[in-house]
Amino acid sequence: MRTLKNILVTGGAGFIGSNFIRYLFERVGFPGAIVNVDKLTYAGNPESLDDIRQSYGGQYHFEHADIGDFERMRDILARYDIDTVVNFAAESHVDRSIFGPKDFVQSNIVGTFTLLEAVRAHWGKRRDTLFHHVSTDEVYGSLGETGAFYETTPYDPRSPYSASKAASDHLVMAYHHTYELAVTISNCSNNYGPYQFPEKLIPLMIMNLREGKPLPVYGDGRQVRDWLHVDDHNSAVWLIMNRGANGETYNIGGENERENIWIVHTLCEAMARITGNSVDSYKRLITHVADRPGHDRRYAINCDKIKGALGWTRAVAFDAGLESTIRWYLANDAWVNRVRSGEYRNWIERNYGKR
Ligand SMILES: NC(=O)c1ccc[n+]([C@@H]2O[C@H](COP(=O)([O-])OP(=O)(O)OC[C@H]3O[C@@H](n4cnc5c(N)ncnc54)[C@H](O)[C@@H]3O)[C@@H](O)[C@H]2O)c1
Repeated sequence: MRTLKNILVTGGAGFIGSNFIRYLFERVGFPGAIVNVDKLTYAGNPESLDDIRQSYGGQYHFEHADIGDFERMRDILARYDIDTVVNFAAESHVDRSIFGPKDFVQSNIVGTFTLLEAVRAHWGKRRDTLFHHVSTDEVYGSLGETGAFYETTPYDPRSPYSASKAASDHLVMAYHHTYELAVTISNCSNNYGPYQFPEKLIPLMIMNLREGKPLPVYGDGRQVRDWLHVDDHNSAVWLIMNRGANGETYNIGGENERENIWIVHTLCEAMARITGNSVDSYKRLITHVADRPGHDRRYAINCDKIKGALGWTRAVAFDAGLESTIRWYLANDAWVNRVRSGEYRNWIERNYGKR
């Protein structure tokens, strides 16, 4: 068991990072400082943690910064006496990486490299530190009808997004072997839950269902993904940070493989149950659109290692998780509307200045 004193969370204004910070304060009761470093791209919204800022002001700190800024990173590591880094910061949307790969190379590869350099410069030969890197199962490529990704599966990324994540994973492991940096890596499947930017499948569908807009489904919709509730992901990350072996990678999965079209049908059914409208009135909105180039057919993740070695278990059943996620989006109109309208950009400018 490690002693983690002060944690730097990068990308903590995004979907998973903000849930992770909330998890540390509200579930773990973490006693040290938590510093959220975020560049506030379109996907970063510090309002997601406004209540945390108010309740835990003495412990919670926000720094508007780019992980690719060496001097800022080094200064923040020193100023808050950081001994633990968890790196969520990344450009994360596959579609955007197809149309504009440059930001992905910059934030995911150069950004992670710069953060590693800052950590190496600041920590030197200290051995009471940890760099945990959050990655994706997409680095393993695509599967056929059967089989699963193991921690030992060779990397075979297919999109600029997954290639940039693969490169950052390799850099983290290289710093472990070359400079003896204490590291752990986790590769997870598709997360879902509250505060996810409404461009990803589940929140996008919920928004469009709510507004009676078409539900765009890529190709035949038969692509298979594994779904993991963000709270289960974050309990796994926290366990790895505390008890994971130095230099090891752990897969985190929901063991919940579903075709995309099944997810959309299930959302229609859940929405009908919640609103009392007919299921057909929702299913009628399904619209098949041209498939994404290089669309991986199936991902499935084997997570026996984290279950066996660290005793991790999931707490959220998929049906319950999906329903609570729909209810969260319906109850948090203000958050959704601000994120989508760009109004939160004004809030960012008021609070953090123009970017
Ligand atoms: N969402 C998923 O299903 C999923 C699955 C597997 C892995 N991941 C990984 O988990 C991490 C978090 O994903 P997410 O869904 O929360 O993403 P997100 O897009 O919601 O959030 C990413 C956050 O990182 C910030 N950011 C981007 N570039 C930055 C930079 N250069 N410096 C500082 N901050 C920067 C953004 O402003 C944003 O707040 C990513 O590394 C992603 O690759 C996500």
